[in-house]
Amino acid sequence: MYRRVVRPVLYKLGNGDAEVAHEQTLKGMRLLGRIPGASALGSRVYGASGEGHSVFGVRFPSRVGLAAGMDKNGIALRAWPAIGFGFVEVGTVTAHPQPGNPRPRLFRLVEHEAVINRMGFNNLGSEALAHRLAAYGPLGYPLGISIGKSKVTPLDDAVEDYVTSLRRLYRYGDYFAVNVSSPNTPGLRSLQDAGHLRELLAALHTEAASLTVAGLGPKPILVKIAPDLTTSAIDELLQVCTDLGVAGIIATNTTIDRTGVPDHPLAHETGGLSGRPLAEIAAKTVAHIHNQTGGAVPVIGVGGIVDPSDAARLFDAGASLVQVYTGLIYRGPGLIRAINRSLP
Ligand code: FNR
Repeated sequence: MYRRVVRPVLYKLGNGDAEVAHEQTLKGMRLLGRIPGASALGSRVYGASGEGHSVFGVRFPSRVGLAAGMDKNGIALRAWPAIGFGFVEVGTVTAHPQPGNPRPRLFRLVEHEAVINRMGFNNLGSEALAHRLAAYGPLGYPLGISIGKSKVTPLDDAVEDYVTSLRRLYRYGDYFAVNVSSPNTPGLRSLQDAGHLRELLAALHTEAASLTVAGLGPKPILVKIAPDLTTSAIDELLQVCTDLGVAGIIATNTTIDRTGVPDHPLAHETGGLSGRPLAEIAAKTVAHIHNQTGGAVPVIGVGGIVDPSDAARLFDAGASLVQVYTGLIYRGPGLIRAINRSLP
């Protein structure tokens, strides 16, 4: 039904500008969230059964979540459980509201079930998100909040930008994702280097500790990494994360590598590639982290899940939870139901 009816309509919107389809989907989801009982009914049909799973001290009703970037400003948060998601990561948000890169900035590589995006953290800012989350009240499922650096903030002042967003949003998140891996903010990925990351995480933990003393915590802080790091860079990063007591790693963000989409007419577009071509490297990265830490650091596996077997591969590699974005564009909500059904 999704692939034969809904998807062709979405693809025609905005003369094929993929971002228009994205905006309409979000609007549709927001409407769905306003229908009384839709979320409860939908989650019975699409969601997981059972008591849920506890990971880094948070109880997840399903191990399948919506990845960051889909609902950056949290406009459809009542709706996502209705299509089977057990948790949602909003954002990435930044301390300053910003428009992102000029359009077009989102491209579908249909033959590969892949997407290239260079959105550039278009978002209404962490203050606006805090107001929206306050208005929602309790959501009834775990909410992750992804924070990043504003484009106007120089890299040298990045720490304060992240800390500001953490402070504004701390009371509303069940976990926080520190995004140092988007390829679309110049210089951002250099924050994955051991020295920068240590300084950033230390500041975030200090802020979190004082907010906890004020009665708002504690809250797990996770780091989201790129799939393009060498294994030695990952190992250095893991050392910093373990030293500083990071609650988990999210692996992975989009890739700048194009070997999975050779000769595609859109392969030259600047940005991060997601979807099926990412599956293998995401699974390898999850396995490496799991082995390197002896399973002591929980991993959220994300990248290239377009089928339940892709999710199984990430769980087999050691992931405790998984997230989906591009697979939802190509396979629709049936994918989330199928993954939930396939899980023990
Ligand atoms: C993303 N992703 C992303 N990640 C993040 O941490 N913050 C963000 O703001 C965004 N924005 C974003 C926009 C778009 C259009 C896409 C397609 C992706 C990355 C996303 O969360 C995920 O890590 C990757 O897309 C890999 O998963 P999939 O898409 O292959 O399931």
